[in-house]
Amino acid sequence: MSDKLRPSLSTLGAKVKELSEQLEQLYKDAKAPVPTLAADSPASTFTGEIFVVKQKLADAMNDLNIISQGPNESVFNYCHNVIPDVAALNIINHFDFWSAVPLEGTATVGDVAKKTQLPEEVVQRVIEHVTTLRYFAYTNPSIPKTSKIQHTSRSAALAKSFGLRALVTSTIQDCGPPMLVMPEALEKYSLGQQSLTRDVDKTAFALAHSGGEVFGKYGTVWDYLEHDGNGEKKGWRQRNFNGWMQYIKEIFGTDAVLLEAVDWKTAGEATVVDVGGSGGHDAFGLAEAFPNLKVIVEDLAESKPVFETNIPKGLTSRVSFQQHNFFEPQPIQADFYLFKFIFHDWPDKESIAILQALRPALKPGAKVIFVDYVGKQGEFDASLPRSIHQFGTSTDLRMMALFNHEERPTDAWRDIFRRADERFEVASVKANPLTYIVVIEAVWRGE
Ligand SMILES: C[S@@+](CC[C@H](N)C(=O)[O-])C[C@H]1O[C@@H](n2cnc3c(N)ncnc32)[C@H](O)[C@@H]1O
Repeated sequence: MSDKLRPSLSTLGAKVKELSEQLEQLYKDAKAPVPTLAADSPASTFTGEIFVVKQKLADAMNDLNIISQGPNESVFNYCHNVIPDVAALNIINHFDFWSAVPLEGTATVGDVAKKTQLPEEVVQRVIEHVTTLRYFAYTNPSIPKTSKIQHTSRSAALAKSFGLRALVTSTIQDCGPPMLVMPEALEKYSLGQQSLTRDVDKTAFALAHSGGEVFGKYGTVWDYLEHDGNGEKKGWRQRNFNGWMQYIKEIFGTDAVLLEAVDWKTAGEATVVDVGGSGGHDAFGLAEAFPNLKVIVEDLAESKPVFETNIPKGLTSRVSFQQHNFFEPQPIQADFYLFKFIFHDWPDKESIAILQALRPALKPGAKVIFVDYVGKQGEFDASLPRSIHQFGTSTDLRMMALFNHEERPTDAWRDIFRRADERFEVASVKANPLTYIVVIEAVWRGE
């Protein structure tokens, strides 16, 4: 058995120390302050060398955590805490405890109860749990029931960032229940089969949302995001999801991927359709960088208000929103059709149908620019930290729960174009194992 699986406590502790010092030095070199636990902490960095060292440190701390507790206790502790941790975060996010405590002051349990309209008892018990996770802190931890509450770095980050709050809602509140019924869904639809069913009507999502007062009856997560809620609240989950997508773009710098995906400058006076373009965050960046482009964002109805709120004034003549279901024939003849993070949501059958729906509008030489996640099968670079690998595997399992789908490796992406229509010529494929992003350019060779 590999010695890698037998590190001593002190070797791991030394590794944690060494990586911590390396990280501190990187912050110093970048003239950037190191994050703290206090409310005035700087925000996180998700890119570059700092990111990689952080993930190496996360791996070492995780191993240290496991062997310091021992296998049984580490499992026990994890199982005992993980669901209450998730439930408590879900509650404080849903009821916006973040804004109930001033960033530079304190609040009482009564203040938070008044602001959130929850019973004081609930607020007190939930806060008591989340302080163990460093969301909020007591000014006097020895008397939690009567102590005042102040922000920590984590709770302050959530108070300041709609995108981060949107991430909590989407990953935990929207995706959590389907993920928790994955065993039942697998038992019902895939047990004894050679492979996972690819039927989008037989997902863990569809099972969790098969009726009833809590989760309602919805076929796909998009249906749920668009239609859950009544009156003004209808579509709130989609508007929130728009915020999550925008946040992902900001933290991982995926706008740069898009700006470099094509030589947009030499494309001339070109029209780009951003298919499934959410509230337009990518379209705005693209149009701002390239005044020669006209961009039309297509998405479902509830992304429109987000688009209208966020469109910069200077772009209204060149960027517009059109409600469009991408399974229906494409109504706009354009030079480029952009699909960013669309197909990873859908099994092959649906992905092929989405590509085929473009055909009525395609002129010879029209290009499909495709930016998506590249899957893990056989392609993971073992020199990268496991926690980076985990980013990919977590998305992969989420896709399994929501869509009975997987993150595809590069060759599978090529295959989707070929199966959709032989007249799509895949002109280039660029996959980056560090970011898990693949950029594909396909040219329409039809008449
Ligand atoms: C994962 S998000 C990607 C959003 C955006 N392209 C980005 O990269 O940030 C998928 C998008 O597809 C949209 N979508 C889902 N089903 C759709 C459909 N049938 N027609 C049009 N858009 C759809 C969703 O509303 C959502 O905005």
